[in-house]
Amino acid sequence: MSKGVKPFSRITGLGVGIPENVLTNADLEKIVDTTDDWISSRTGIKERRIMKKGERTSDYCIKAAKEALAEAQLDPELLDAIIIGTISPDMRFPATAIYVQEAIGAKNAAAWDVSATCSGWLYSLFMADTMIAAKRAKNILVIGAEMLTPMVDWTDRATCVLFGDAAGAAVVSEAVDDRGILSVVIGSNGTFADLLYCVGHGTAGYATPSGQENGNRFLRMNGNEVFRHAVRVLERTAKEAVERAGLEPSDIDWLVPHQANTRIIKATAERMNLPMEQVFMNIHKYGNTSTASVPLAIYEARKEGKLLPGQNMLSVVFGGGFTWGGSVIRF
Ligand code: ACO
Repeated sequence: MSKGVKPFSRITGLGVGIPENVLTNADLEKIVDTTDDWISSRTGIKERRIMKKGERTSDYCIKAAKEALAEAQLDPELLDAIIIGTISPDMRFPATAIYVQEAIGAKNAAAWDVSATCSGWLYSLFMADTMIAAKRAKNILVIGAEMLTPMVDWTDRATCVLFGDAAGAAVVSEAVDDRGILSVVIGSNGTFADLLYCVGHGTAGYATPSGQENGNRFLRMNGNEVFRHAVRVLERTAKEAVERAGLEPSDIDWLVPHQANTRIIKATAERMNLPMEQVFMNIHKYGNTSTASVPLAIYEARKEGKLLPGQNMLSVVFGGGFTWGGSVIRF
């Protein structure tokens, strides 16, 4: 028997939906006053994927969902729930998960979205694991999807260079042995809500009906302040996730963190005493894809032959709110 707690659930299939359009740092140099050198050295990002006008978040969720279900070899009618972490839904309502349910024929699933910024996929994973542990569900599709392009202010160099669009999906089912989700921890702190937000069509914009023209639809961030908090919270969350999994930091084979900034990732690895050879990064290709970043990174790490059977992976995320989450998964 392996070290660590007994899992209730496991990931049986993964899939991604990635826009074809590539926006490089050189492309951004033509739009705002920035340089490839600034973006690369401050963030690690070289390029990102951008949705096309006319596309919807659900288009990419559906693609990711079909791939994940195929790997899991699961009939969509056996899904009990579809949970999508997103702050960039197709519409204010119905939930983006509703469109996914219809498109994949998951007629027995309840479907809803979760708003938790970059932590949305881990919040959704928390729900799925808890529902399966409580025997309220057997199979749940958990998606993290973000198409931030429409809410990015393409005149604000401090934010527009950071984000990219993507979706990542996982089928979560009952565990059958000692492999699976050993821990998921989540948390939030509303004290810092003003550091990263988007008014959009929320009631906070009702007082200024012309808010759309005034920039209400754009995401706003005090990146410097967010950075400062992120490093501290990620270390604490990583340690909590490892402890709840019944493991020591030295039992972790891979760190597959939220891809927000290379400097944040390196600081987190250092504080967990993990060498960079055990850290997976794809931020250079996709930028910060918010809630899609962890499932997309897990998907690519596996494709590269990492995350071998029996290995323990730690993921940590931090986002606007603030929200955060951590998880240890044994593959
Ligand atoms: N190109 C060139 N110069 C720039 C750019 C740019 N794209 N953006 C900002 N600058 C300038 C600033 O104006 C500033 O100039 P000044 O010194 O003359 O005033 C200088 O660069 C330094 O700016 P800082 O904001 O201090 O740069 P910093 O080193 O903090 O890096 C960054 C900024 C990359 C945003 C960093 O703070 C960060 O990664 N923060 C965390 C982001 C994050 O994790 N967000 C949470 C998840 S997102 C979500 O929840 C949706």
